[in-house]
Amino acid sequence: MALPDPTPTTTALVTGASSGIGQAIARRLAARGHGVTLVARREDELRALAAELADEHGIRAEVVPCDLADPAARDRLAAELDRLGLEVDVLVNNAGFGTYVTFAEADREREVEQVRLNVEAVTDLTARYFPAMVRRGRGAVLVTASTAAFQPLPGNAAYAASKAFALSFTEALHAEAAGSGVTVTVLCPGPVATGFQDASGAHEFAGKVPKALWRSADQVADAAMQALDRGRRVVVPGLPNRIGAALGRFSPRPVVLKVMGAG
Ligand SMILES: NC(=O)c1ccc[n+]([C@@H]2O[C@H](COP(=O)([O-])OP(=O)(O)OC[C@H]3O[C@@H](n4cnc5c(N)ncnc54)[C@H](OP(=O)(O)O)[C@@H]3O)[C@@H](O)[C@H]2O)c1
Repeated sequence: MALPDPTPTTTALVTGASSGIGQAIARRLAARGHGVTLVARREDELRALAAELADEHGIRAEVVPCDLADPAARDRLAAELDRLGLEVDVLVNNAGFGTYVTFAEADREREVEQVRLNVEAVTDLTARYFPAMVRRGRGAVLVTASTAAFQPLPGNAAYAASKAFALSFTEALHAEAAGSGVTVTVLCPGPVATGFQDASGAHEFAGKVPKALWRSADQVADAAMQALDRGRRVVVPGLPNRIGAALGRFSPRPVVLKVMGAG
């Protein structure tokens, strides 16, 4: 099941399009002729990308600044899409951040914000646009999880749990969508040098990650597009990350917790 063909009244809504993986995915969708709706909080970055994509590919690029962790802001985003008369036929749920701290030392509000963005916003936007895709018999949903999704991670507990939600949720929707004309894929990157390390306070953690696991945002976006084209359920970019994901997923939990907790 491939990505739907672009039309003048449909749009690819990409969250987290102001930076990193989301920006790279938005570029690829625009290059294929999809109109894009770029969503994140930083309006200047979104406007610069929209101008670039409209100019280079002659597509319609909308900018909707939105704090996706805020339910009222998500209502305004949906209202703006209605006002523009645009149908979302590609939904890229990609915005996210992580917290890298033991839970006893964590900031409560930041932990809750993380769940609101990585879990609640993904559920909400998918609930808003996936059912209509199924009714129309065309559409695509991509959710960015992480290799963190495959096992619990001490020191990164709520982030790993939020991405485990994204993985489980999206895999289930992939099965529900079978035969409907809608593609549903979960993207599970390993480490990628983006704004994520600054936004998530992950520099110390990143410094310990072997070089073989790193991929660029462009490599990850290419893997995501290929997986959407092929109707894949899960994509983990890079062989070393696929091996790590399998170890995380299938090793006994006491072993995983001991190894991951030791770092
Ligand atoms: N980089 C990695 O190592 C890595 C690995 C595995 C998975 N991931 C996942 O990949 C996804 C993209 O991250 P990235 O690596 O591209 O990092 P990034 O460069 O920091 O991009 C994150 C994007 O999310 C947006 N965002 C953050 N909080 C938001 C909010 N409250 N409302 C709306 N947008 C918000 C940011 O835009 P604004 O700041 O402008 O709002 C930005 O566009 C995330 O879900 C992340 O968990 C990343």
